[in-house]
Amino acid sequence: FQNEFTWGKAVSTNSIQEFHEKFEKSLDGAKKELGKKYPIIVNGKEIYSDENFTVNSPANTQIKIAEFPKSSISDTNNAISSAKNAFEEWSGMPFQKRIKSFRDCADYFSSKKFFLASIMTFENGKNRIEAMGDVDEAIDFMRFYAYQMEKNDGFCKQTYHPSPNEKTQVIMKPYGVWGIISPFNFPSAIAIGMSTGALITGNTVVLKPASDTPLSSFYFAKYLFSKIPAGAINFVTGSGSIVGKTLIESQSVDGIAFTGSREVGLRGFQEFTKTTTKPFISEMGGKNPTIVTKNADLEKAVNGVMNAAFGYGGQKCSACSRVYVQNEIADKFIEKLVEKTKEIKIGMPWEKDVFLGPIINSDAKSKFEDASKIAKTDGHILTGGSLIKTDLFENGYFVQPTIVEKLPEGHKLMKEELFLPFLCVQRYENFDDAIKLANKSEYGLTAGIFSEDKNQLEEFFSKIHSGVVYANRSASATTAALVSSQPFVGWKNSGTTGKGAGGENYLQQFLRTQTQTHCD
Ligand code: SER
Repeated sequence: FQNEFTWGKAVSTNSIQEFHEKFEKSLDGAKKELGKKYPIIVNGKEIYSDENFTVNSPANTQIKIAEFPKSSISDTNNAISSAKNAFEEWSGMPFQKRIKSFRDCADYFSSKKFFLASIMTFENGKNRIEAMGDVDEAIDFMRFYAYQMEKNDGFCKQTYHPSPNEKTQVIMKPYGVWGIISPFNFPSAIAIGMSTGALITGNTVVLKPASDTPLSSFYFAKYLFSKIPAGAINFVTGSGSIVGKTLIESQSVDGIAFTGSREVGLRGFQEFTKTTTKPFISEMGGKNPTIVTKNADLEKAVNGVMNAAFGYGGQKCSACSRVYVQNEIADKFIEKLVEKTKEIKIGMPWEKDVFLGPIINSDAKSKFEDASKIAKTDGHILTGGSLIKTDLFENGYFVQPTIVEKLPEGHKLMKEELFLPFLCVQRYENFDDAIKLANKSEYGLTAGIFSEDKNQLEEFFSKIHSGVVYANRSASATTAALVSSQPFVGWKNSGTTGKGAGGENYLQQFLRTQTQTHCD
């Protein structure tokens, strides 16, 4: 599989200059696709509607991205029925054929990656490099899960039995129809990763993309629906309170894969499993800590924390939102971090060399204003804390990357996930306290440490209660897990199953074991 990796290659192949040249060219093609009416996809048909919602760019709300149907309960139920009808054919087909569909789709995405990433910069406000990372990650998910199916012979094994009269094979079989509920922040990688997991194992799918970013997810469904049996993949847009709720309440849905906020995820989990034991796979939020010890390489720490806190405006469940820094180096670290944060290039995300684009929508903007107000009263803002209202940015949701310190112990800004470019800093005296503080959270997704002391790193790894942990990651302290190398897994209230997207244990969650014995 190593040879099939795509992640990051678009950026590094040949040169960054070539990357930008290609990106520049793809923008025109992407712009031509903006502003149109798009359909939902049910039972192999594209269905347009007169009742649509409009998606505008968060960078400039005057740029219309698309119109998508406001699907009803009955549209959603039709999609579920179509997935149910397609199940027999899709699950009964040799798994090698399903693998081929996803390898083809991965190749198609590879050939269109600049176009897809360009669309994403307009739709969800990721910068060029982050948008390409998202598309590349989607491609990696498809190829990695195809590889996993192949490597495990479609999850079918003969077992040894001591009696010569009995021969047993253990097969893993798909459940049926899965509802896939995906978030705005990785509209390609996460939507495709979860859907591929369900589909490649033989389940059928109703994919509900985030309403802020349906277009980036649409291309996957559009490619697949013409290549696989009608109804195996259905794509239904609309509100969580109608489409999402119908999926979760339907007796005909056999499993849910959800990525999103803890609040919505826990509610969905409780509702879905109220009267049944059906699987609900979820990846939820984080309030991810990074510890910077007095033994840290400060350059690495500053760079890593800045990128993890402010990359894509902190709108990653893996983003670093709490930093614990040891007293001896705290002043120096904070000074350098603030300096680096002030240098961040903010701008239109599709433009060259922009690091930070807008946050996703007006709700996020209000959340930022509320958090900044609280931070000003209860703590001390070191940089940021305001909306950006200059002429260039007046039609978008642009905010200053913000660092706050001196919040009282246990303050809500240190506990609640904000999903914003908003970083809380706290000083500490000794290393044991830092680990305790880092673990003091209902979440347990990612965590980072910067220290050149090997014993400290070992202690950190043995005591930290998070699923994805990194030491001295100067590119980005807590974010950017790589498919296959770094399964992405949330502990505590960050996830329900503890298996890890992009890891070897992921696909089995979409399957159940059947033990088949033949007796002579
Ligand atoms: N997988 C992403 C990361 O590691 C977050 O979803 O940053």
